Amino acid sequence: MKIEKELLILAREHHVSLVLANRVINTVASKNQAEISALCLNINKYFAESFKDHFETEETLILYPLMSIDKNSEDICKRLIKEHNDLIYLSSSLADKPELLLEFGQLLRQHTRAEDREIFPNITALSRKQLQAIAESSEKHKRIEEFF
Ligand SMILES: [Fe+2]
Ligand SMILES: [Fe+2]
Repeated sequence: MKIEKELLILAREHHVSLVLANRVINTVASKNQAEISALCLNINKYFAESFKDHFETEETLILYPLMSIDKNSEDICKRLIKEHNDLIYLSSSLADKPELLLEFGQLLRQHTRAEDREIFPNITALSRKQLQAIAESSEKHKRIEEFF
């Protein structure tokens, strides 16, 4: 699938996001309590801060603008914004509730794939100027290091 060049940084961040989601799902499956605890603490400490810029660019410059296209887009975009909040909530709960780790990993994977499949291909509904704003905002993101 061709990705618009303005989305390349977001797409790269999605790669990190999917690597993290897979890491979570595999770690839960391993039942290794020491690794599960370590991963929960790292996500608790770094996820919200690391993905803050990514979520903000998506919401402000992609999801809110796409909402006005039609009812279907509105439903999808609202769901994705809610999932950002759920991911932040889950990540910040993991230090006390490691039992939420699998839910966090599954939601992160499903959310990222949904954006890749349902949002990125429809980005051409935005104007060149709007696309340019996405690129400029993404360039200012703090680089997401793999903290896991
Ligand atoms: Fe997102
Ligand atoms: Fe995303």
